[in-house]
Amino acid sequence: MSSIRIITEQALFETAPDFYGLFFEDINRAGDGGLYPEMLRNRAFEDSILPERCKPLDGTYGFVTPEGWRDQFNNGEGLKRWMDGVDETPIPAWYARNARMDLDFNDTLNKNRLASLNIEFEPGGYVTNIGFRGLSLIQGQYYEFYMFARGSVSLTVSLESKDHHVYASKSLNIAGTDYQRFDLTLCPDHTDPDARFTLKSSSGGSLNLGFTSLMPRDTYKGHGMRKDLMEMLQNTGSRFLRFPGGCIVEGFTRETAVRFPHMIGPVWERPSHNLMWHYRTTNGLGYHEYLQICEDLGLEPMYVINCGITCQGRKPELFEGDELEQWIQEAFDAIDYATAPADSRWGRLRAQAGHPEPFKLTYLEIGNENDKDVYFSRYEKFYHAIHKRYPQIKLISNTHTENRGLPTQIVDEHLYSTADTFVTASNKYRNYDRKGPRIFIGEYAVTSGLDIGNLKSALAETMYLMEAEKNQDIVRLTAYAPLFQNVDYTAWYPNLIAFNNHTCFGIPFYHALSMLARNHGKSLLRTEADFRSGYPEPEGLNGLIAYQSGILVKNVQVNGKAAGFSHGIIGDVHSHEDGALELTSDYIDELEGYPNMGHIPMHTAFVTFGDKEEHSSTYELEVLLQSPEQDIDIAVWVHSTPMLFSRDETNPFYTSWNPVYTDRYVWSIKQGIGRFASVNRFNYSYFGTECQLPIRYGEYNRFQVITRHGGFDCYLNGQLVQTAQMVPYPMVAELASEDDTFIYVKIVNIGKTEEAVNICLDCPIDAVYEAELLTGHPKDTNSLDKPDKICPVSRTFSNGAGSFTYLAPAYSFSVLKLRKAGSSCI
Ligand code: AHR
Repeated sequence: MSSIRIITEQALFETAPDFYGLFFEDINRAGDGGLYPEMLRNRAFEDSILPERCKPLDGTYGFVTPEGWRDQFNNGEGLKRWMDGVDETPIPAWYARNARMDLDFNDTLNKNRLASLNIEFEPGGYVTNIGFRGLSLIQGQYYEFYMFARGSVSLTVSLESKDHHVYASKSLNIAGTDYQRFDLTLCPDHTDPDARFTLKSSSGGSLNLGFTSLMPRDTYKGHGMRKDLMEMLQNTGSRFLRFPGGCIVEGFTRETAVRFPHMIGPVWERPSHNLMWHYRTTNGLGYHEYLQICEDLGLEPMYVINCGITCQGRKPELFEGDELEQWIQEAFDAIDYATAPADSRWGRLRAQAGHPEPFKLTYLEIGNENDKDVYFSRYEKFYHAIHKRYPQIKLISNTHTENRGLPTQIVDEHLYSTADTFVTASNKYRNYDRKGPRIFIGEYAVTSGLDIGNLKSALAETMYLMEAEKNQDIVRLTAYAPLFQNVDYTAWYPNLIAFNNHTCFGIPFYHALSMLARNHGKSLLRTEADFRSGYPEPEGLNGLIAYQSGILVKNVQVNGKAAGFSHGIIGDVHSHEDGALELTSDYIDELEGYPNMGHIPMHTAFVTFGDKEEHSSTYELEVLLQSPEQDIDIAVWVHSTPMLFSRDETNPFYTSWNPVYTDRYVWSIKQGIGRFASVNRFNYSYFGTECQLPIRYGEYNRFQVITRHGGFDCYLNGQLVQTAQMVPYPMVAELASEDDTFIYVKIVNIGKTEEAVNICLDCPIDAVYEAELLTGHPKDTNSLDKPDKICPVSRTFSNGAGSFTYLAPAYSFSVLKLRKAGSSCI
């Protein structure tokens, strides 16, 4: 039986108050049409305008930046899939019938608007907006519409069904040569999640629309954000909110980087810009709204600034001299906007926007995922300038700047990896220098491997966080990433909360995170635990990687049966008459620019055999090597993980079975020396010992790998030549904390069997206790159809005592709330 001893007499340290936080980035259409519930898509008519200085590629499909970064565009729709089943239109989301509509680039509402929509109505003509995959209307609710328009036309403004059944309508008369604002409220008499917005003229006429908006009246605390999504955030029990990114802070050009002045003031005066995630934002969810969200949810604001570099993974532009100074000034202005008194320059603007009292601004991060000298020099400048003027603000650097001798308060570390890595990497913080900077795990998620966004990955992430909690003296802040996803727009996967235009759900980890954060406790308790260990479970194809073209292979067998070529992950095979397959290489330069790809030699070929992902196998093949210079990797458990993010969804290279999304274990044979490794992309983590192999050069050699529990046995020409044992990892982990009333015991069991855990305490507790339990099938996740498939349940037990047994179900996370009896252990 496993055991946990909880020593309440020795509280280790106080828990970090802001340990659990959130990270909002406008990714997956999380902003407009998401948390910011604008219902009209392309409300400013600028979506189809290419980002400044970028040139079109293949018609409207993509563009290339001046530095050469290529991205997809699809006439401003972003991901092509977003338009599945929707008629094409030159002006995204807008359609005209018996009316002509064009973008007018000269007659715009104000200097920040790039276009207006000129419409010539024939009698009975109309234009329709389809919103973000339809407008979601609720019968009897109020929807506030406004627009800026000039021209001469009588209009009927209506909310209607797809086939023009009118749910609500009002009339407007436009007459004037200058833009005027028109406001009205609509209250539909039907509920319809796939409704349309229409402007119709029965008599005909023309107008220019400068800007439009339609929003539900009922928003969170009346401050304009979508209620159900805000409630989802509230339920997490989080303590801070990182904003606005992420890569979007950096941009792929200087014009596409996030800028503070573009995120304040009247929304129709805010410039829009293209985001990394292939669509344009109107910046309606701007800086002011962000600060208001933090206030409404009781979250500490953590604002991320660009420090003079665009995204380093996307062919960056660097800002120098006066331009760089301007970005420092913008950081000052943003801080002043949040915190200066209402009678100051920036405080006045904040007051005009409805918030005379200063907001909080607790943390400020200098850059996102920047590195190298170009970052260090800029970081130093920003750090000193900001710290001198605003010493109260806690500054975060996005890499280990202390190693460069730079002043460093908090370091933001990001971890995107496999579930196994989350489980095994969880103890890394034990070795961190306690005199060094505090750690912020600013973005983390299981994003590769076969388990993504499901219960199994949630348990791995939970285990990782529980270990981070044990190191709260140094790890002070954490935030899962990303936060939101419109289910029809997957620019990145997985995401904590998914939504469509009227409903939402959390992935399994959303629930685990809420359980962790809401039961954090005030002090961490010392525990002594005894649990069994386990190993990764094999799943995947078998394969061969050759680092030179022309290697010959034959007689490939998996579990004793012949296995044919299945995927050319890099390169292909050419069949010879004698049945041998020759590996050919076609090195793909798209791999360039992928960070953390590892080194891939020029003539690499990487192929798989068999088409079924085997659970445990004997894999054998004959390979002809001419000399020790011919390096190969005999690969097992090769698996292609779902696409993490959509750089170019129409290029099959990015869809599956490519080196960017392929993990594996390999018997790596280099210069005749064999060694085992687990490989993510082309990054090798070796384990086991090295061995000089008795390869017979100039003839076929039979290589055989037998997968057994926790390791591999490797045979060459029938002789066992090497074994490799994987590093065991814990199948169960524990964490204990307390506040004045409760002792919180958390137990995660990632194994496939129930675990009986003896819990032993040194203080009295009530016999009756509540446990929150998250469990289910490890591969299960939640969806729009089944939003609660994996969600916590509460159980009451009555066996609480100084020593008692808790049965932790297979694949589960449990939080036990043990009420302290009396005051003896407070
Ligand atoms: O969270 C998604 C992206 O991952 C962020 O934009 C970026 O910081 C990281 O690479």
